[in-house]
Amino acid sequence: MNEGDTMMGEVFGRVVESKDPNTKVGDLGLARPGWVTHAVVPGSSILKVPALPEGVPQSLALGTLGMPGLTAYFGILEVCEIKPTDTVYVNAAAGAVGSVVGQIAKLKGCRVIGAAGTEEKVKYLKSELGFDEAYNYKTVTPDKLKDELKKIAPDGIDVFFENVGGEASSVIYSHMNKDGRVAICGAISNYNSPGNSKPKEQPPPPHPPALGRVGQWEVPVIRIQGFLVTNFYAKRDPALKEMAGWVKEGKLKYREHVHKGFESMYDAFMALFTGKNTGKVVINI
Ligand SMILES: NC(=O)c1ccc[n+]([C@@H]2O[C@H](COP(=O)([O-])OP(=O)(O)OC[C@H]3O[C@@H](n4cnc5c(N)ncnc54)[C@H](OP(=O)(O)O)[C@@H]3O)[C@@H](O)[C@H]2O)c1
Repeated sequence: MNEGDTMMGEVFGRVVESKDPNTKVGDLGLARPGWVTHAVVPGSSILKVPALPEGVPQSLALGTLGMPGLTAYFGILEVCEIKPTDTVYVNAAAGAVGSVVGQIAKLKGCRVIGAAGTEEKVKYLKSELGFDEAYNYKTVTPDKLKDELKKIAPDGIDVFFENVGGEASSVIYSHMNKDGRVAICGAISNYNSPGNSKPKEQPPPPHPPALGRVGQWEVPVIRIQGFLVTNFYAKRDPALKEMAGWVKEGKLKYREHVHKGFESMYDAFMALFTGKNTGKVVINI
C-alpha cells in the first residue's frame, strides 16, 4: 500500500441505495472497500452471505463463518489433508484463524497443540476449545521449546499450521515427523517489524530430521505449502454450510473481540500485533 491509500479491510454491510437491478436496498453482504463508513461498489462485487444459524451474530460472517474460518477450513482440510492419527500444531491459536484450525482438527480426531501469548488464552484453548495441549510462547521461549515439545508432543508433530513465523517455527520444523505437512498461512510476527518491506536475513531453519533416502541423496519428506484462502472460494458455499452446522451444534465455538465506533479502527488493528484480541477482531461502526 502507498501513503494516502484507503486501508484495506473486509466489511459486512447493508445496501442503502442501489442502481443495480440484482441488488436491493436492505440486502446484506460482504465487500472490500477498505476502512470506510459508506462506499459505492458494483453490485456484482458484493458477496452474499448464506443464512447464519439462529442466535448467531451476523458479524460471524467476518470471522468464524467468513474469511478467517474458511482459511482454517481449507488450510487444515485441503492443504494439510489431516488424518485422525495426526498431531497438529497451530500458533496464534486463540485468534480468528487458529481457534478454528484447532477445533476442526479436534472434530476430525487429531491430537491438537496450540501456542498463544497469555495464560488466559492457554486456558481458553484447553478448557473451552478442547485443545489437548497449549502453552504460552512468551514463557516457553524458543530456547525452551524443544524440551516442552518432548513433553507435549512426545510422538512428534505431523501437521504444522503456521500463522506466525520467526524463531519458534524452526524448532517446530525440527520436531516434525516424516510425511509431515506444513501449511504456511501467515507470518504475523514479521508484518509489523520496522523495515519489513525489506525482509531481515533470517537463518535458515535447521534441517528437518524427517528424511527419506533417494539413492545417495537425502531429501526432506515433509510437504510445505503456502496458500491463499481465495484460491478455494469456488468451494466457499458448501464449506460455510458445513461450518454453520458445526456452530449450530455447538461443535465450533467462537469469540469475537468487538470494538465500537469507526474511530477505534486503528487501535483495533494494531492490537492484533500485541495479541489483545481473542478470536476475530470486529469493529462495529
Ligand atoms: N493465507 C490466507 O489466505 C490467510 C487468510 C487470513 C489470515 N491469514 C493469516 O493468518 C494469521 C492469523 O490471522 P488472524 O486474522 O486469525 O489473526 P488473529 O490470530 O486473530 O490475531 C493475530 C494474533 O497473532 C498473535 N501474534 C501477534 N504478534 C505475534 C508475534 N510476534 N508472535 C506470535 N504471535 C503473535 C496474537 O496472539 P497472541 O496473544 O497469541 O500472541 C494475535 O492475537 C495471520 O498471519 C494472517 O495473516 C492468512
